[in-house]
Amino acid sequence: MSTRRIKSLVAIALLAAMLLSGCDSLPGRPTQADLPLRPSDVTDFAALYGQNCAGCHGADGKFAAALAMNNPVYLAIVDDASMRRVIADGVMGTAMPPFAQSAGGSLTDRQIDILIAGMRKTWAGAPDAGAGAPSYSSSTPGDSDRGTQVYAAKCQSCHGPEGKGGSAAGSVVDPFYLSLVSNQYLRTIVIAGRPELGQPDWKNDVAGQPLTPDQVSDVVAWLASKRPPVSGAGSIAQSH
Ligand code: HEC
Ligand code: HEC
Repeated sequence: MSTRRIKSLVAIALLAAMLLSGCDSLPGRPTQADLPLRPSDVTDFAALYGQNCAGCHGADGKFAAALAMNNPVYLAIVDDASMRRVIADGVMGTAMPPFAQSAGGSLTDRQIDILIAGMRKTWAGAPDAGAGAPSYSSSTPGDSDRGTQVYAAKCQSCHGPEGKGGSAAGSVVDPFYLSLVSNQYLRTIVIAGRPELGQPDWKNDVAGQPLTPDQVSDVVAWLASKRPPVSGAGSIAQSH
């Protein structure tokens, strides 16, 4: 097991402990009176989301460390299969843990389906929220040199020269940040925005000039090019 994997397991364990200790006050948490309802028998969306996801993704779109799940553009562009893959298997090297029992997590496949359906039912925005948006994923890698131009035209006004932070927003080239998120997640954020933080979606970086699909891929490639190489014992395991 690589050092990096161990580090991320430690981070997950710490976060999980925090989440569990915070759960007592959540409305959906089963009480003694609910026993013998086993955890795998919980089928209520609010309880499942509150216990397993809200600590990182926010309850009802409130500020949280990771993308709020009530983002209407996100819910419009992402398909169920992509969500299921991430929730079931987690994202290696990031704080997103695997939840499927088959991957060592605590949720049944049915509970994961309930979560996906519940997020869509509870939080989907207007039917046209993602109209004209670049696709959720892309099989063609972007070009980081072209991404430099996209950054200067669309992002620099807030994130400052070279991404190091400006008056309106912080650094997007912070090595700790970039080493903890995947390229898909960066793509998700560039397209869907984080309205709760002030990060615009693909249409609103510059008014009236939505990003094209190529510009999204190129600026994500530029961000990825700023990610520090993994050093130490983990580098061999991480290099492919
Ligand atoms: C109108 C100002 C504005 C523009 C334009 C803008 N951003 Fe942001 N962005 C923000 C704010 C505000 C945040 C919240 C965090 C912070 O203050 O840095 C943010 C956060 C981010 C994050 C981190 C999100 C997270 O929570 O993980 C990334 C990555 C990012 N922006 C990339 C970009 C890219 C790439 C562009 C250009 C395509 C861009 N931003 C354009 C304001 C902006
Ligand atoms: C310990 C923190 C944590 C917990 C708990 C957590 N997540 Fe995540 N989640 C993350 C992070 C960090 C990412 C970004 C991963 C990446 O970089 O690709 C993420 C990514 C995701 C994505 C993919 C976003 C995209 O770009 O498409 C989905 C969907 C998701 N989480 C759903 C859930 C659900 C549902 C739960 C509860 C069952 C949950 N998460 C619990 C931290 C967490």
